[in-house]
Amino acid sequence: MLKQKSIVIWMVGLSGSGKSTLARALENSLHKEGFLTQLLDGDNMRTGINNNLGFSPEDRTENIRRAAETAKLFMNAGLVTICSFISPTDEIRKIAKEVVGEGYVEVYVDCPVEVCEKRDVKGLYAKARKGEIPNFTGISAPFDVPKNPDVAIDTAHQTLEESHQTLVKAIIEKIKY
Ligand SMILES: Nc1ncnc2c1ncn2[C@@H]1O[C@H](COP(=O)(O)OP(=O)(O)OP(=O)(O)O)[C@@H](O)[C@H]1O
Ligand SMILES: [Mg+2]
Repeated sequence: MLKQKSIVIWMVGLSGSGKSTLARALENSLHKEGFLTQLLDGDNMRTGINNNLGFSPEDRTENIRRAAETAKLFMNAGLVTICSFISPTDEIRKIAKEVVGEGYVEVYVDCPVEVCEKRDVKGLYAKARKGEIPNFTGISAPFDVPKNPDVAIDTAHQTLEESHQTLVKAIIEKIKY
C-alpha cells in the first residue's frame, strides 16, 4: 500500500553531533518524495514512554530497548522509522540491532567531542564540565566509536546541507520500492 520499504534508521552520535537536526531534515526530504515516516528522538521518548528512566548504564540500556521495540512496531506497520539516540556503547547498539532485526540501518553521525562541546547546543557540556551532570557521554561516560555503521556522516567537516544530502541519498536507495 505504501510503496516503500520500511526500515529503522538508527542514528548514533554524541550529544550535539547533529542527530536530531539531520533526522528532521531527512524526514522533511522523505516527505517531499512521498515517503511516510515516524521520528523517535531521545527527547520525545524520554519525556513520554521512558519518563521513569535516568542515565545509569541500566536505564540507558532500558531506554534503548524500549525505543528499539517501539521502532520495530512502526517499521512493521510499514513506516520509515528514524531514531536519534546517542546509543553510546557497542553493547547498547547490539541490543537495538537485535531487537529491530532485519531492517536495522545504522547511521554514525560522526563529530569529535571537542566540536560538539564548542557547539554546546543545549548548554549540557558546560554543565557536565562543572560536574552538574553525572554520566555525561563523552565527558564522564564512555562513547564507543561504531565499528561498522551502514552510513557514516562527518558533520565536523561538512556543512549541514552536505551532510543532509549524503544521508538522503543513502537512505532513498534503501527504501525505494
Ligand atoms: N553537518 C552538520 N550536520 C548536522 N548538524 C550540524 C552540521 N554542522 C553543524 N551542525 C549543527 O550542530 C548542531 C547539532 O545539534 P543536534 O541537536 O542536532 O544534536 P544531537 O545529536 O541531536 O544532540 P542530542 O543528543 O543532545 O540530542 C546543530 O546546531 C546543527 O545546526
Ligand atoms: Mg537530539
